[in-house]
Formats: sequence, structure tokens, C-alpha cells
Amino acid sequence: MDSNQLEQTLVLIKPDALKNSVTGFILSQLSEFHTGSRFAAAKIVNVHRMLAEEHYAEHRGKAFYAALLDYITGAVHYPVDVWKRRVIAIVYLGPNVLKTVREMAGPTNPHKAREERPGCLRALGTVVPILDAKGNKIDDRMDNLIHASATYEDAEREIKLWFLPHDIPPLMRAYPTEVCETHYYYKDDRLFNTYEPDSVFLLAPGDVVWKSDLEILRQHAQGQPSQGQLNKVVAKYLVNRTAQEQ
Ligand code: CDP
Ligand code: MG
Repeated sequence: MDSNQLEQTLVLIKPDALKNSVTGFILSQLSEFHTGSRFAAAKIVNVHRMLAEEHYAEHRGKAFYAALLDYITGAVHYPVDVWKRRVIAIVYLGPNVLKTVREMAGPTNPHKAREERPGCLRALGTVVPILDAKGNKIDDRMDNLIHASATYEDAEREIKLWFLPHDIPPLMRAYPTEVCETHYYYKDDRLFNTYEPDSVFLLAPGDVVWKSDLEILRQHAQGQPSQGQLNKVVAKYLVNRTAQEQ
């Protein structure tokens, strides 16, 4: 497969799409018939706060950031039924897939989407004002049903953040992998090579890992910790491993 054939994007079907039962519609819009591209991987994810923070790291500090985390973790659409909080994460693959899916999604703001691009997926979304403690509007929360990576760099970062190599069939993987040679366990923002009580098992010798992730883990093991980097690696190993209290 040439590199253009391997172009990939991360698609998230967000909690509002699941709540409003438009999942099937979005999936059928994504079909090869409409996009000329195909599914490479998919999973149901109960979005851990660490994963949400890493995914939307570029928006940290913005007025809508807290509301965005509540939205993507499912807390907004499933305040009571915690077990229903989920997104569908998809790696989508094909020529020009980044542009195709961004166009299919449409503008970020559903109001703008309805005005400018009726028929796009985000035209089905909702805009909800975000209020401060005094009740003044500080921004809008945009419930826009779907995420699609914006650039090649974003796609690589996001796919590696949400997916383990073994979630994706080997011939459909776009990024280099390496075989792990050590055990790794995680607890309280720290990494261990042997089991510690209450630690989470991450990796064993023989596991296939994103090469760039393994480099971060090795740096850590050599005493060059960089916490922000570690969270990028660990977040995906926590996906669906433990029920998180929110
Ligand atoms: O998703 P996209 O790349 O089009 O937009 P973004 O500017 O990267 O923002 C990421 C997500 O944050 C959006 O898809 C919206 O769901 C949300 N957002 C929001 O709730 N309120 C805003 N004022 C801007 C973005
Ligand atoms: Mg964006």
C-alpha cells in the first residue's frame, strides 16, 4: 500500500450522537460508498478524564475547556446513567481521508454549519451557552456529534493516543511499532518495571507498542521523566480497564 492509501484520521462519534441515536446515520455516511475510504479500527470507549485532557490539550485554559471535558467524557449527556458514558472511536483509512471526513463533518459551530453547509453532519448539532457563577454567558458549548482529525500531525497524535497497535490490523497500521522488552506498570503518575500493589499493568515483553511511545517509556525508565509525555502513553492503556468514578 502506498503512503497515500494509508492516510488515516481519527473519528469520534461523540456522546450526543449516541444519545440522539444518529450513530447509524454517521456510520453510513462514513461508508466506502460515500467516502472511498474504509474502517481500519473501532472501539467503544468510556472516556477517561486523562484521555479527554490529552486529546483536547490544545484547548486547555480556554473558557469552554471544562464544559468540553464534561461533554466528551459523557457526563453532560448521561449525568445519571454513568455506565452509558461512551464514544465510538474509529480509525478511518483511505486517500484524502482527512479532508473528506472534515468536510463531511462541517464547521465546528452547529449554527454556522446549518447556515453554511446544510447537510453536513454537524448541522444536526446543538449550541449550549456556558454560564459563569453569576449567570453571565462566557462562551458556547458546541455539541457537534463528531470529531475528525484536522491535520496529518493531529491524526498521528490522536490515533496513537486512542489506539494500541493491536487494535488495528497490522497491514492497516500507518505508524512504526516496536516490540517491548520489559514489563511496565503504572501507579500514581509513576512507572515501574515490577508489580507494585494497586498498580495497573501496562505492557509485557513481546507486546507491540507504538515506537514513539516506547521511546517515552524508556526515557522515563532512565530517569528522564516528563509527566505530560507519560500521560500520552498511559491514557490509552487505561481505556476500559477500570471503571472511573466521576
Ligand atoms: O472539532 P474542531 O477541530 O472542529 O474544533 P476545535 O476548535 O478544535 O474544538 C474542539 C471541540 O471543542 C469542538 O468540536 C467543540 O465540540 C468544542 N468547542 C466548544 O464546545 N466551544 C467552543 N467555543 C469551541 C469548541
Ligand atoms: Mg480541532
